[in-house]
Amino acid sequence: MKKDLLTLRDLTLDDLHGIFELAAKLKAERNKMNYTPLAGKSVGLIFAKSSTRTRVSFEVGVGELGGRPLYLDQSRMQVGRGETVADTAKVLSRYLHGIVIRTFSHADVEELAREASIPVINALTDEYHPCQILADMLTIKEYSGRVDKSIRVAFYGDGRSNIANSLMLAARLTGMEMVVSAPAEERPAEELMAGAPNICWEPDPLKAAEGVDYFYTDVWVSMGFEDEKERRMKIFRPYQVNEALFERARPNAKFLHCLPAHRGEEVSAGVMDDPKRSIVFDEAENRLHVQKAVMARLIK
Ligand code: CP
Ligand code: NVA
Repeated sequence: MKKDLLTLRDLTLDDLHGIFELAAKLKAERNKMNYTPLAGKSVGLIFAKSSTRTRVSFEVGVGELGGRPLYLDQSRMQVGRGETVADTAKVLSRYLHGIVIRTFSHADVEELAREASIPVINALTDEYHPCQILADMLTIKEYSGRVDKSIRVAFYGDGRSNIANSLMLAARLTGMEMVVSAPAEERPAEELMAGAPNICWEPDPLKAAEGVDYFYTDVWVSMGFEDEKERRMKIFRPYQVNEALFERARPNAKFLHCLPAHRGEEVSAGVMDDPKRSIVFDEAENRLHVQKAVMARLIK
């Protein structure tokens, strides 16, 4: 595997299957496994944005692999007072064995990875959230037995969110069919669809629901986009994932959400809380297993 995981572009299909295989083993044997590839190693977890799942699953995951997690609030680091990203990368490389980072600018994470001699794992930027999508793919694999062109996923709402972008990279990697149902103002980026006939944009939410296996949505106002709240709440309103969409989908269709969810906004309460349709907590759990597999493979 490459040194870093910044987007799913860093993974081959072989890498992906290797991660799934290890994650499934770590999940099945979680309580009886004495597997400590991070023994004696320290992993810095830099957060510039809020988090529940990512922070907890990484802290627990590093510990379960035998390592020591260090939570670092970016606003309390010197990088928040003008120290360069490059100097920060060089210094942290002398102490740590890996860095997990959640911040705003994707370019900053690329620079950090370039300048650091240790692996850097993207735990969400404005543009990408690869760890989330790995957990989602693992969840699809558990429910459908495969992630390939026979699976149809529909993403609703913000067609340019870090989740939509990363899901498109996953579709490019696995060949699964993906439709993004979003308003023209926030339609998916051309470069993420280019050359991928399995990915399309469909502004009509009902049409997009035809034959879907998995519905996926994300918050309408992502972290860092609060200034655009009024406009976003208006343009995404027709793209709520609700019962009417499920009527057009395949009979056993499921609902995915990276969480946190907002009932009555991007998803109806009925869908979010329907135990036959919603698999969001299995999905959240898989963050832990898949990230442990990623760290075990990257952090040496
Ligand atoms: N899905 C996700 O990344 O959740 P947190 O923001 O709680 O980490
Ligand atoms: N798009 C959301 C994802 C949260 C996990 C955000 O960036 O806030």
